[in-house]
Amino acid sequence: MKKVKKSSNRASTNSSPGQAPGESVRVLISRSRIRRRIQEIARQIRTDFPSEPLHLVGVLKGAVFFLADLAREIPGEVSFDFIAVSSYGKNTHSSGQVRLTRDLDSSVEGKIVIVVEDILDTGMTLQYLLRVFQQRKPKALRVAVLLDKPDRRITPVRADYVGFSIPNAFVVGYGLDYAERYRNLLDVGILKLPEPPEPPEPEVHPA
Ligand code: IMP
Repeated sequence: MKKVKKSSNRASTNSSPGQAPGESVRVLISRSRIRRRIQEIARQIRTDFPSEPLHLVGVLKGAVFFLADLAREIPGEVSFDFIAVSSYGKNTHSSGQVRLTRDLDSSVEGKIVIVVEDILDTGMTLQYLLRVFQQRKPKALRVAVLLDKPDRRITPVRADYVGFSIPNAFVVGYGLDYAERYRNLLDVGILKLPEPPEPPEPEVHPA
């Protein structure tokens, strides 16, 4: 797993970031590092399962680009499917509630399943998904995440394949969103939100 430090002096990522006023994005992991790391993970997965067909399950929507790039880097037979769970909505903090909002198209029974997630944060989503998948009797169950924020974990889950271990900051890009924006950024960056306005001074009346 690669560790990524929070500091990066490079300016904001991408050509058309769709920023709202006062928001800015600072590159944390460049597209070329992401590409190289995905190639390494793909090789590792094939080493672990040298000749078996692999079934990747992407967690919508954040994992779409990760799954698309990972699937194309793994040699041999690879199929994929998607599942969706409820997520943060418009906030940068988890509600702690996980709910299946879109199920798989096909059964995973007897398959080597690799759950592909964008980011492992509190671990609530993955804990829920692992429970769902284990009940469906796959031949093997593994987890690949592009990003891991270990400091935020509140559940005892771990991923088998981790792209980058990152500090506790809210990140966007390469599939990750804030209120559905920024998914199309090519790099992963730290989102800075505008400072909330100062509360008005309390009115003071003469006694
Ligand atoms: P967890 O259940 O807290 O582990 O959160 C997993 C989900 O929360 C991810 O699949 C993301 O959709 C979302 N999430 C967590 N951290 C971030 C972040 O820094 N940026 C964008 N989405 C995040």
